[in-house]
Amino acid sequence: MTTELTDLDWPQHTDRLELRLARAQDADEIWPWHRSPEVQEWTTTLSTTLEDHRERWDSHLPVSVVGLQGGHVVAVGKVERQDAWSQADMVGQARGQQAELGWVLDPAVQGQGLGTEFALALLRVAIEGLGVRRVEAGCFAENLASRRIMEKIGMRCEGVFVQESLHRSGRWLDGMSWAILASEYGARQS
Ligand SMILES: CC(C)(COP(=O)(O)OP(=O)(O)OC[C@H]1O[C@@H](n2cnc3c(N)ncnc32)[C@H](O)[C@@H]1OP(=O)(O)O)[C@@H](O)C(=O)NCCC(=O)NCCS
Repeated sequence: MTTELTDLDWPQHTDRLELRLARAQDADEIWPWHRSPEVQEWTTTLSTTLEDHRERWDSHLPVSVVGLQGGHVVAVGKVERQDAWSQADMVGQARGQQAELGWVLDPAVQGQGLGTEFALALLRVAIEGLGVRRVEAGCFAENLASRRIMEKIGMRCEGVFVQESLHRSGRWLDGMSWAILASEYGARQS
């Protein structure tokens, strides 16, 4: 049977963060910082109204984990189990074998290593919790902070896609794909 995020024990803790599953009522709390220009610069989705933001938040709840400090949500993460690519006759065995991660931090707490701490915790959730064999994440190549996080938590840059991604500034930017295998994660832990 496949383990889901809801099957795991919550909350989980890092040195400075408490992690739990996202809740519908978190939407309003994060709205003031989630819509800030420094966060929206690199996120995929852009909500222009609170209603829009709530609707989008609700649709992402099954794959969303939040990080709290002092009882406040300061980090939002994605841990989404996905099917690995396979030849058609192997689809059943490739199903749910990998996960995609994402992370966003309240600008008020950025620059203290919390992004790295949170991302590592999400990686642990995916590999030790969900038991996937491979974890992936993507970013715009110009998102240096996110790239550095991926590097620091042991992910490998597996692809740079030249002018592949259209940014909302109107510029075509390079995209990057990063990944780590569960076996590589395990070797780093030991
Ligand atoms: C990316 C993000 C989560 C980083 O959060 P953070 O708490 O500042 O991260 P950390 O403090 O752990 O810093 C991570 C590393 O990035 C580096 N870094 C941070 N900002 C940087 C920048 N503008 N340019 C280059 N490096 C940067 C830090 O120095 C650190 O590296 P170091 O330990 O070698 O010094 C945060 O900036 C954010 O939420 N950005 C908007 C949303 C986003 O980009 N999400 C990811 C989409 S792929």
